[in-house]
Amino acid sequence: MQMKDKTVLVTGGAGFLGSHLCERLLEQGHDVLCVDNYFTGQKRNIMHLLSNPRFEMLRHDVTFPLYVEVDEIFNLACPASPVHYQFDPVQTTKTSVHGAINMLGLAKRIKAKILQASTSEVYGDPEIHPQTEDYWGNVNPIGPRSCYDEGKRCAETLFFDYRRQHDLVIKVARIFNTYGPRMAMDDGRVVSNFIIQALKGEPITVYGKGEQTRSFCYVDDLVEGLIRLMHNTEDDFSGPMNLGNPGEFTIMELAETVVEMTGSKSKIELRPLPTDDPMQRRPDISHAKRTIDWEPAVPLHEGLKPTIEYFKKMLEE
Ligand SMILES: NC(=O)c1ccc[n+]([C@@H]2O[C@H](COP(=O)([O-])OP(=O)(O)OC[C@H]3O[C@@H](n4cnc5c(N)ncnc54)[C@H](O)[C@@H]3O)[C@@H](O)[C@H]2O)c1
Repeated sequence: MQMKDKTVLVTGGAGFLGSHLCERLLEQGHDVLCVDNYFTGQKRNIMHLLSNPRFEMLRHDVTFPLYVEVDEIFNLACPASPVHYQFDPVQTTKTSVHGAINMLGLAKRIKAKILQASTSEVYGDPEIHPQTEDYWGNVNPIGPRSCYDEGKRCAETLFFDYRRQHDLVIKVARIFNTYGPRMAMDDGRVVSNFIIQALKGEPITVYGKGEQTRSFCYVDDLVEGLIRLMHNTEDDFSGPMNLGNPGEFTIMELAETVVEMTGSKSKIELRPLPTDDPMQRRPDISHAKRTIDWEPAVPLHEGLKPTIEYFKKMLEE
């Protein structure tokens, strides 16, 4: 899918997903303005783009207003992993809520189209599986994860109110677990944890019996989904839309695959299951298939190869 001659703002552009999105938008011939405060993002993620005359980087915190001229805004700024978003929960909520208000205000002023990177966490601890977009969720408003979950829920509310009240063209993507090169080494997610443990020859820590299932979407697939959603020509179509890989793997299968693919001598060690660890999380993506003709194309085995290579390089540095 291709749309030329646009200037696109990517907030959180120095992060994991944002840097891949910037890369893809540049490949498609767009001018890209990347905005990031480097809270969890890194300069190294976008270093290779700095020599591209179509790429510009701006250090800025989205909780403060921003005045720029662009055609489209992808709003990705927000720490995404529990260790990072719980580090300063008040700032996490501010980033989601004030960040959304500032970016929506900007979009309104300059009449730009705007996409929100929302999350499967808006479903909380879901009572239905797999989750469809019409499910309202089961979220604790006062727990340690609430800064992220409720912040993202409030951001969705703001997006839809800007559409209803100001006729803004909005798109809301609910992103499920995504992995790939440039995930932060210290983010505590299962894919990066297992790969790093395997590469270091340390025990692979599996919680419970490893029977809980997860679905993993490779970053290239996810970025394609975000761009298709943004460039969907029906401007009255806003979502929310689930984007993720519906393929289910048990945590034990993931651990064994990582050990095999890294050729590691690591042993798998079982640890007690934390109380808030859901048994299953899987997106229903029929909406995305129908509306933007999107479904993930990269199997887990394929996506793990470049991810393992990336972490290998990081550990050698
Ligand atoms: N990776 C996933 O599996 C996943 C799943 C669901 C939703 N998401 C959403 O996608 C977006 C990107 O996630 P990611 O995995 O790339 O995380 P990430 O932490 O790598 O990227 C987030 C980026 O936002 C920046 N940022 C944070 N607060 C900011 C602020 N106040 N102002 C400006 N920049 C700020 C960070 O420095 C970082 O570069 C997030 O909004 C996240 O909630 C990601």
